[in-house]
Amino acid sequence: MNPLNHVAIIMDGNGRWGVKHKNSRNAGHKAGLTTVEKIIKETIKNKIRYLTLYAFSTENWKRPKNEINYLFNLLENFLTTKIVSLNKQNIKLKIIGEKNFSKKLNKLLRHAEKKTINNKKMQINLALNYGSKFELINAFKKMTKSKKKINEKNLVSFLQTKNIPDPDLLIRTGNTKRLSNFLLWQLAYSEIFFEKKLWPDFTEEDYNKIIKKFKNIKRNFGNI
Ligand code: FPP
Repeated sequence: MNPLNHVAIIMDGNGRWGVKHKNSRNAGHKAGLTTVEKIIKETIKNKIRYLTLYAFSTENWKRPKNEINYLFNLLENFLTTKIVSLNKQNIKLKIIGEKNFSKKLNKLLRHAEKKTINNKKMQINLALNYGSKFELINAFKKMTKSKKKINEKNLVSFLQTKNIPDPDLLIRTGNTKRLSNFLLWQLAYSEIFFEKKLWPDFTEEDYNKIIKKFKNIKRNFGNI
């Protein structure tokens, strides 16, 4: 059975769910947050050490202002109401991506990271204003400037995910099969599961079924 140390998730399908059920994309994001909370709990139950959630990409700025504002309000709410409980559960929160939001949100994010920095039980990485190509270009720039040898180990040390093992498993909900500029380097050997359900419909049972399948895959990392 494969050990499962790190799950990454592209939580796709909120907009479609919201339009279908409530005639509002934002309602889909609200429902998506409920799934986030369920999946965090299930990840803890499964004793998985790292969970990385793609919450906002560098390309998501193209969306209408009202949707962007709604998403950031949800996030502010999440941070304000949940950080004490995450901290009590010994969970560390890390943001990957550039923190260039409103002053209030930047402050909340920094505060949440600082408060939980020494927690050891589990780590949630929230990818926010994250783009893998941007991350890689920055890492190459830093590596060149440092005059260090150009090799895999040094490049990894300049990624925003430094000190985080690569995901073993990537799940994308929403019935689309693409990576959308997410962890392009880090996913090199991850097992990928594309799930038809939209993110708000994704349940603990769906998650556990994928975990079970993952554990039984023969992972050979290029070997035989
Ligand atoms: C993709 O679905 C989802 C997002 C861009 C946002 C994800 C946000 C949440 C799940 C809620 C907030 C989360 C946190 C952690 C506070 P989409 O809108 O692209 O769906 P579509 O493909 O149906 O349009």
